[in-house]
Amino acid sequence: MPWDAWIRTVEVEPSLYAADFARLGEQVDVLLRTGARAFHFDVGDGHFVPPITVGPVVLQSIADQVHREGGVLDCHLMIEEPQRHFAAIRAAGGDSVTVHYEVCAEPGSVLALARENGFEGVGLAFNPETSPQAVAAVAEGFDLVNCMSVHPGYSGQAFLEGSVERVKQLRALLPLSTHIQVDGGLDFDNIRSVYDAGADLLVAGSSIFGREDLPRSYRRLVAALA
Ligand code: DX5
Ligand code: ZN
Repeated sequence: MPWDAWIRTVEVEPSLYAADFARLGEQVDVLLRTGARAFHFDVGDGHFVPPITVGPVVLQSIADQVHREGGVLDCHLMIEEPQRHFAAIRAAGGDSVTVHYEVCAEPGSVLALARENGFEGVGLAFNPETSPQAVAAVAEGFDLVNCMSVHPGYSGQAFLEGSVERVKQLRALLPLSTHIQVDGGLDFDNIRSVYDAGADLLVAGSSIFGREDLPRSYRRLVAALA
């Protein structure tokens, strides 16, 4: 599935950061068979966020499997100097790349570099303490804006309640062609509220992988949006 196909639909994106890495291929397979097509892949560098998470080597290990079924790998770079890693992430099979507002002095030139590297989808993420107004002011040309609903770094954190209001503000500021992604702490009980506020790319880590029955958890999140 090309980027412009999945980005136009509402997507629940399993966040692989919460997967069981000893069974990564198996869990990706189960979710592909359940209908998931966009997988969120969190890269953390130990600087911009405290933990080192996963990178191109792990991305590459599942890229063929995901692409064969028409899926996409949506890479969230929680790292400083993200542009230094674009080529490696693209070569490993990343389809889209999202960089953080907080580390980009010139978001426009980072966007241009991402396009030069062949990314069809390019996103701009921002932390809970960053103002939606500041981000919207420099978001022109980006395909998506990721409104973090937790402090980036770890899966399994509680959803920050102010996020619904931030999504509403962002929706009013951005053109409708710019998609809003919400990332962190989404579960059955709150996913609808961010969707109603204007988000259409909904990332879910522990609410899928933290439960025994992955297909059931994924389907319940999708059903909450119906
Ligand atoms: C947080 C990551 C998120 C995270 C989501 O730093 O950017 O993508 O994996 O996980 P949950 O849904 O468990 O908050
Ligand atoms: Zn993320």
